[in-house]
Amino acid sequence: MYHVPVLLKESIEGLAIKPNGVYIDLTFGGGGHSREILKQLDTGTLFAFDQDDDAEANAKNNSEFYDNERFKFVKANFRHLKQSLLFHNISQVDGILADLGISSHQIDEGSRGFSTRFDGELDMRMNQQQDFSAKDLVADYGEKDLHKVLGMYGEIKNAKTLAKAITAERIRKEIVTTQDLKDVLQKYAPRGAEFKYFAQVFQGLRIEVNEEMKVLEEMLTQSGEILKVGGRLSVISYHSLEDRLVKNYIGKGKFYGEVEKDFYGNDIKPLEAVNRKPIEASEEEKKINPRARSGKLRVAEKLYFIHN
Ligand SMILES: C[S@@+](CC[C@H](N)C(=O)[O-])C[C@H]1O[C@@H](n2cnc3c(N)ncnc32)[C@H](O)[C@@H]1O
Repeated sequence: MYHVPVLLKESIEGLAIKPNGVYIDLTFGGGGHSREILKQLDTGTLFAFDQDDDAEANAKNNSEFYDNERFKFVKANFRHLKQSLLFHNISQVDGILADLGISSHQIDEGSRGFSTRFDGELDMRMNQQQDFSAKDLVADYGEKDLHKVLGMYGEIKNAKTLAKAITAERIRKEIVTTQDLKDVLQKYAPRGAEFKYFAQVFQGLRIEVNEEMKVLEEMLTQSGEILKVGGRLSVISYHSLEDRLVKNYIGKGKFYGEVEKDFYGNDIKPLEAVNRKPIEASEEEKKINPRARSGKLRVAEKLYFIHN
């Protein structure tokens, strides 16, 4: 199984699909969400993005996608959303779905370096054509920058101590594999919560390697621009850093600071939240699919046309 989709029913319902509309799945992965969107289209089109070679192969080897004339796969980082769609002569869309982060396939493939369980090279690139990997990060970042990554993105308490330890350890022995890194982390992890600590450190490195926060900001801004009035955005995030950006963009039209107002005191922002609170998976889904435990879905609707 490539990936079990999370919050499938809820996120697709959030899109309020029009059978003749243009829809975007920004995170194709195993195609679980794409499949549901396609089921609801008659004359509409689905563009499915993913930057990962394996996700592309998964779409290409699957006749339900590749033989479907309503389906188009776009091998690109979703930070290039607008530009990639323009290539297909599309400037406005009816709905956009993003199921952020990595797929179970990417985690379970030890050689990708995302897993705290399986050994593999410290890689963590979502796009295999990218040069910069987690191994480069751990080998080259100075203590200050490592501290920032571990504290800000890994949210670990002893980030400064760990950054110092890594920079000292890598002189003694090159840190090449996930096991090499875990050997260093072991000493600094709270007793009994080692795997949680490893997971946080890995999360921090992964976010930095793939510039995930910056890419998410770019994608949300472009989504706000290209949605048609009444069009829907459905985003599933898996940690608080991502969710905060999604929440702020929907609520305030920006990522930091307060919402801007026009002359009449109206909020200047392209989207309006459909649900006040994020939607979480049911207890039943969380039981069957552990990945669903941290999933938070936010749905928003485009309010008015922005010319850009
Ligand atoms: C959680 S999985 C999506 C799973 C999918 N919804 C399903 O049901 O199978 C996230 C996918 O998005 C891709 N991805 C993450 N960030 C991306 C980005 N910035 N641009 C393009 N693809 C990205 C990953 O490579 C991964 O395949």
